[in-house]
Amino acid sequence: MKLIVAKNYEELSKTAADIIKEEVIKKPNIVLGLATGSTPVGTYKNLIKFHEEEGLDFSKIKTFNLDEYVGLDGKHPSSYRYFMDENLFSKINIKMENTYVPDGKASDLENYCKEYDRSIEEAGGIDVQVLGIGSNGHIAFNEPSESLSIGTFIASLKETTIKDNSRFFNSIEEVPTTAISMGIGSILKAKKIILLANGKNKAEVIQQLLDKNVVSTNLPVSLLLLHPDFTIIVDEAAYKK
Ligand code: PGA
Repeated sequence: MKLIVAKNYEELSKTAADIIKEEVIKKPNIVLGLATGSTPVGTYKNLIKFHEEEGLDFSKIKTFNLDEYVGLDGKHPSSYRYFMDENLFSKINIKMENTYVPDGKASDLENYCKEYDRSIEEAGGIDVQVLGIGSNGHIAFNEPSESLSIGTFIASLKETTIKDNSRFFNSIEEVPTTAISMGIGSILKAKKIILLANGKNKAEVIQQLLDKNVVSTNLPVSLLLLHPDFTIIVDEAAYKK
């Protein structure tokens, strides 16, 4: 595991985007695993800037997002598809057909989850996976639990997550309670993983992750410590308790 402590959110975002840029230049048809939430927004802004100002080319890349709420279609302003279109895809030269976000309206969800994993494999696997972290240690919707799913699955959201995510909805009642989420195994298959955490709300969970030399399904993020190419980028606020 490699730890990078950035001064602030701006530096964190630039650092993450620089790493991704380098990988895209190295492999123009790279497969990126992408995350939603507040954390990666600055990273995406930097990637858009690289595209606009330096001509960074996304025309051959493919992306797979970690998750989507069950029941929301891509036009719903709180859906992750909408988020990705708004915050990245519509502002770079990616082909929309190369952007994969789980379909929250899929009719046969069980089967859909298997297909999602198959699509990732058919694309050659994820080269670089970008991740945020929940204040409870979840990654994607792999919530703390006695056991974790290996492949893409239907996740039940914990109360803490529903509360954390309610800021993206008009009211807490509107937050869906289930989501399609890549499993911990789908995430660990990525060749390179970059986890981002900023702000004091993440300080406690980051300290738990760094202090304990153990892995536990009750702290899903800790399983990433087993990955051979795992980089954590935090800002000072998330690093200090
Ligand atoms: P956030 O969410 O980036 O909005 O803090 C992270 C997560 O829940 O994985």
